[in-house]
Amino acid sequence: MRGLLDLLGTRLPIVQAPMAGVSTPALAVAVSEAGGLGSVAVGGADVEAARGMIHEVRARTDRPFNLNVFCHRPPRRDPAREARWLETLAPCFRSFGAEPPALLGEVYRTFVDDEAMLALMLDERPPVVSFHFGAPPRPTADALRAAGVRLLGSATNLDEARALEAAGVEAIVAQGYEAGGHRGVTDPDAPDDRLGTFALTRLLAACCRVPVIAAGGIMDGAGIAAALALGAAAAQLGTAFIGCLESSADTAYRAALAGPAAAHTVMTRLISGRPARCLANRFTELARILDEASVPDYPLAYAAGKALATAARAHGETGFGAHWAGQGAPMARSLPAGELVATLEEERRSCARS
Ligand SMILES: Cc1cc2nc3c(=O)[nH]c(=O)nc-3n(C[C@H](O)[C@H](O)[C@H](O)COP(=O)(O)O)c2cc1C
Repeated sequence: MRGLLDLLGTRLPIVQAPMAGVSTPALAVAVSEAGGLGSVAVGGADVEAARGMIHEVRARTDRPFNLNVFCHRPPRRDPAREARWLETLAPCFRSFGAEPPALLGEVYRTFVDDEAMLALMLDERPPVVSFHFGAPPRPTADALRAAGVRLLGSATNLDEARALEAAGVEAIVAQGYEAGGHRGVTDPDAPDDRLGTFALTRLLAACCRVPVIAAGGIMDGAGIAAALALGAAAAQLGTAFIGCLESSADTAYRAALAGPAAAHTVMTRLISGRPARCLANRFTELARILDEASVPDYPLAYAAGKALATAARAHGETGFGAHWAGQGAPMARSLPAGELVATLEEERRSCARS
């Protein structure tokens, strides 16, 4: 544990997961000030927005923080498939008096060939950068490390973990199938062994050279203590922070998290084109009747998913929101983030003592 905490420059073995669209610079500041590692997600942001978020964090804390980007392969364009998908969703759009978009855009750009985002990182030098959906090319990782930036990456199996090590990543987030949000799989079309957090954490801790950070379904100090007992050096929690006052989750998302849907999360690629775990809602219900194999590539499908959520919301229906959450969702707490971090650490210590 000490090695990782020294690498990250934090006091506690707690990482607040980057959550595009949900985590905020204020959340990262609160977590980092409390001794954990706060994360800023810029997977959905352009360079100027990312720079603004970095400055917002730096204006309020001098503690380390993590900047997170997506390394997905660019989508394969298939106009016929995209048109068929939009036709499939058309009745849903029409039920809200709207039409599906005419074309699907790339709502999230990959970092893999984003030279402007790399230049921003080399200029700003955030203390930590983390990658989801694989890693960038080795020269990019080397340039960041040479600039003094520490690198993390998500893996869902041993092969992905080894590829991250080979790419120059210095600690691996072992993301179990329980986790909320997008699975960090490199290839969403490859067979998925769906390893749970318990098995994956132990496997990577035993087989990797670099420290492991466990993620997926961890909601309290007992979960963190269990992850450390399995050999992880820290735990990364996402869903636990959605209900925090500093998150940007809207009222409907918070209500869904506090309601019965929290006990029934669903893994589906219908909403975005990549497998992701969401609170059960009207969108995930569609997964029961629609063929997931016909969904366009990420993030093209996400353009349709976001448009449908907006059309539905305009009619007072919030059940098409991308309400990502992990299997521990019923245990989410609504606290200021600093208080949550202090509580998690207190729970972890009392668990370790007993
Ligand atoms: C709302 C939400 C958004 C997420 N967005 C990102 C993201 O932008 N980047 C990323 O690396 N991981 C993202 N994740 C996945 C987390 O990094 C982490 O693996 C996951 O939250 C752990 O599972 P838990 O939610 O059960 O704690 C997201 C998770 C959630 C719940």
